[in-house]
Amino acid sequence: MQKSVETAYNDIFEAEYYLYFADKMFSEERIEKELQFIISVLNLTPEQTILDLPCGHGKYTNALARKGFAVTGIDVNPAFIERAKADAEVGGLFPQYILGDMRDISFNEQFNCVLTLNTSWGYFDHDENVRVLANISRSLKLGGFLVIELLNPYLSTLFPKGIKNCSAFDYDQNLLIDWMSYVPEKNYFHQKRVYIRNGLRKDSSIDLEKVELDEMKKLIKNVGLDFVDVYGGLKGRPFNQDANSMVIICQKNGTTFHL
Ligand SMILES: C[S@@+](CC[C@H](N)C(=O)[O-])C[C@H]1O[C@@H](n2cnc3c(N)ncnc32)[C@H](O)[C@@H]1O
Repeated sequence: MQKSVETAYNDIFEAEYYLYFADKMFSEERIEKELQFIISVLNLTPEQTILDLPCGHGKYTNALARKGFAVTGIDVNPAFIERAKADAEVGGLFPQYILGDMRDISFNEQFNCVLTLNTSWGYFDHDENVRVLANISRSLKLGGFLVIELLNPYLSTLFPKGIKNCSAFDYDQNLLIDWMSYVPEKNYFHQKRVYIRNGLRKDSSIDLEKVELDEMKKLIKNVGLDFVDVYGGLKGRPFNQDANSMVIICQKNGTTFHL
């Protein structure tokens, strides 16, 4: 096992701060466009089974349920799951929500599709990250698809050691500020985030494993998935150095693996 990396997901994802900004940044229109892209590329049809892993506060899960999919959302943060359930109830929707850790899920050939969106993979040490991929693969039916969105690995070349890329979101006197850097010794992106909400400041951070496209192709192959395509974001733009993210589509191929 490699040494553990910082996994402050409860910190950066503290509901009181995170949800306030997430509600502003992820508009219904944005979710709708992104889901339209995924549904058309994968040719998904209502009543198919989808796992949203992790689901955060259920924005994609509930939108998919509204479209008639049999959708399950899993997240480790109880406040997010509560919020997701509350929104589902208001909308008269019936997705399944499970409070759980993506490292421990044990579904077996249950889903037509798994969605791992908005850089939700890579939070752990390398072996654990691979375990999450293996768990996802096991949960897919033969021929089922995984859509996994990662940070664009080219970003690492833009952040030479010590240089941090800063972005800020300002809403009604509340601020979310991110500094992204790349730590070559660990091969991780380090995201430092400061929230300022109602005059209170909260510092947090998270590390994400950096994976190049070719390496990711090997990792998915080792867990019985075929590479299908890559995009530069959830609206389908091409993947290149300037892309917002690296969205990889893979398909379960039935090869046995032992991980
Ligand atoms: C960047 S958010 C994205 C959530 C969702 N995919 C979306 O697009 O809204 C990452 C999520 O990962 C969850 N998370 C972190 N570690 C987890 C774990 N070990 N198991 C399950 N969920 C986890 C956090 O609670 C957070 O909701």
